[in-house]
Amino acid sequence: MSVKKGLISVVIGSVLLSCSAPLFAVERLKLSHNHGRQHPVHVSMEMMAKRADELSNGNLKIRVYPDAQLGTQRESLELVQNGALAMAKSNAAELEAFSKAYGAFNLPYLFTDREHYYRAMQGDAGKEILQSSRPQGFIGLTYYDAGARSFYAKKPIASPADLKGLKVRVQPSPSAVEMIKLLGGNATPLAYGELYTALQQGVVDAAENNLTALTLNRHGEVTKFYSVDEHTMIPDVLVISAKVWDKLSESDRKALQQAADESMLYMKDLWAKSEETEKAGAEKMGVEFSYPDKKPFQEAVQPMYEQLEQSDKEVYDLVQRMRNS
Ligand code: GCU
Repeated sequence: MSVKKGLISVVIGSVLLSCSAPLFAVERLKLSHNHGRQHPVHVSMEMMAKRADELSNGNLKIRVYPDAQLGTQRESLELVQNGALAMAKSNAAELEAFSKAYGAFNLPYLFTDREHYYRAMQGDAGKEILQSSRPQGFIGLTYYDAGARSFYAKKPIASPADLKGLKVRVQPSPSAVEMIKLLGGNATPLAYGELYTALQQGVVDAAENNLTALTLNRHGEVTKFYSVDEHTMIPDVLVISAKVWDKLSESDRKALQQAADESMLYMKDLWAKSEETEKAGAEKMGVEFSYPDKKPFQEAVQPMYEQLEQSDKEVYDLVQRMRNS
């Protein structure tokens, strides 16, 4: 073989080698979400990224992009579906439009307390829901606590009657729209990033969320009454593209799953601590808290359970299993 031919075969050989999957390839995964760096879910996902790196012996390098830099929750999910983006943090309300099983989390007053909510997330039904979106191109790795959602508006919401005629911003979730309808308000689905301006300019009159919306997203600057009716407990969800997941080695998949599980528990503590801090922060911004009787809210949304039982036995079964967990 001439020197030239020899060189060519070495070059071709090394090109071929670099194309075949090396045993210990470093996987660089981007993770998009819509909260800021101060938010407990960002802190928990940074911890998850660090643990995934350690547990995979440096194979998994996850970079977390906050503040919707890579798009809204919906846009990020669409990128995850086709594998253009590896991971995203969304929540069960937004995910209902992609996989209806997530709708089970969106029924108002499903959980009696925080421990019940955790048993449901960590139980079989919770795990099944995480897997339910595989046909849609992604799977859930874990849930993150997002507390309870309550109404905030320019006046206290003491009973469903106070919602009458109000434009209430909701997430793009069929259950959220139905809930507001039953409570007497007009549901206006909007992306989270548009909400501050929408509240400020009166495009919507009210919204509903946990306390971080008031403080970390500064909605407390433009909306001064938070009424703790705690209608839903809808977890955030960390998802990964099925295309990316299937390409990972089995040991990397195990490492990532373990890191995600650990970060859920880390978040559990962080969230409990953050709730007090955020309440104090909101009060400092001049937000007034009130504690309405929950009964009239519960009664008004009861038909959602009956409607679901009629319309979707599968999701209703998940609801029942979570309720009994
Ligand atoms: C919560 C949740 C976000 C979601 C937001 C919303 O803050 O953590 O993922 O975008 O609610 O109401 O849109």
